[in-house]
Amino acid sequence: MDVQELERVIQRAGRERVPLVMLTVTNNSGGGQPVSMENIQQVSAVCRSNKIPLYFDACRFAENAYFIKLREPRYESKTPKQIAQEMFSYGDGCTMSAKKDGMANIGGFLCTNDDLLAQQEKDLLILTEGYPTYGGLAGRDLEAIAVGLQEALEEDYLRYRIASTAYLGNHIAQEGVPIVQPPGGHAIYIDARTFLPHVPIDEFPGVTLAAELYLEGGIRSVEIGSLMFGAAAKMDLVRLAIPRRVYTQSHIDYVVEMILEVWKKRDSIRGLKLLYQAPFLRHFTARMAPVE
Ligand SMILES: Cc1ncc(COP(=O)(O)O)c(C=O)c1O
Repeated sequence: MDVQELERVIQRAGRERVPLVMLTVTNNSGGGQPVSMENIQQVSAVCRSNKIPLYFDACRFAENAYFIKLREPRYESKTPKQIAQEMFSYGDGCTMSAKKDGMANIGGFLCTNDDLLAQQEKDLLILTEGYPTYGGLAGRDLEAIAVGLQEALEEDYLRYRIASTAYLGNHIAQEGVPIVQPPGGHAIYIDARTFLPHVPIDEFPGVTLAAELYLEGGIRSVEIGSLMFGAAAKMDLVRLAIPRRVYTQSHIDYVVEMILEVWKKRDSIRGLKLLYQAPFLRHFTARMAPVE
């Protein structure tokens, strides 16, 4: 997170209008890159001095911890679990979509170190989802999360996970496909503005490329760019997120092959226009068609 910008936002808005700061580890809209321990500490210090709680969007906490181990010399002899524990010690709570580093099929949870807030949340939970002992989830899903959180921190698993994502990134990058470098943990992000320089931004190069990958090889990806963020988008990326423990190397080789087929014919690909957009979160339900 840009710490100076955070300070400016708090100053501009007034600390009483900032109920919490949310730090997403790893950075999902910025190429799946990890957040460094130093940055976490700095964000935490700004939050603490302004008495604003710091929450993590922790859905990829284990991958973030492993990247810290790989890239920050001070942490090379620590386990991912020790690193994750230190990361969380700088915050006040987290949200967790357990479909990611919880290794579960469904579910998630909310954590806080504020006892009063926890009680209010538990009271509300009974009205909306169920008792805090199950929170609307089936018992087997809770057990899967409990095991998954431990397995996601195993180094053998993390090494394999990060290596297989990099395999996809490196194989397309060596043929010239522009990706965010270095490869992230859970996904490879293709830079669609560079891939399709002839498609103007108002014709959504990211969505155009995502549609083309689907038409070519049935590959489902997602735009993170102008459709998602409108005029505020600084990039048009296509995220190829890789489910954990699902694909073999030959699946990934197929994905590489399909991306390279689209790369070969990139000059003939035309942009898209919007036919329908919802008043908010338009990228989830928009309908689009090729420009004539
Ligand atoms: C960083 C991050 N947080 C939260 C979510 C949402 O998770 P869910 O699908 O469980 O609502 C996602 C989904 O991809 C995500 O990438």
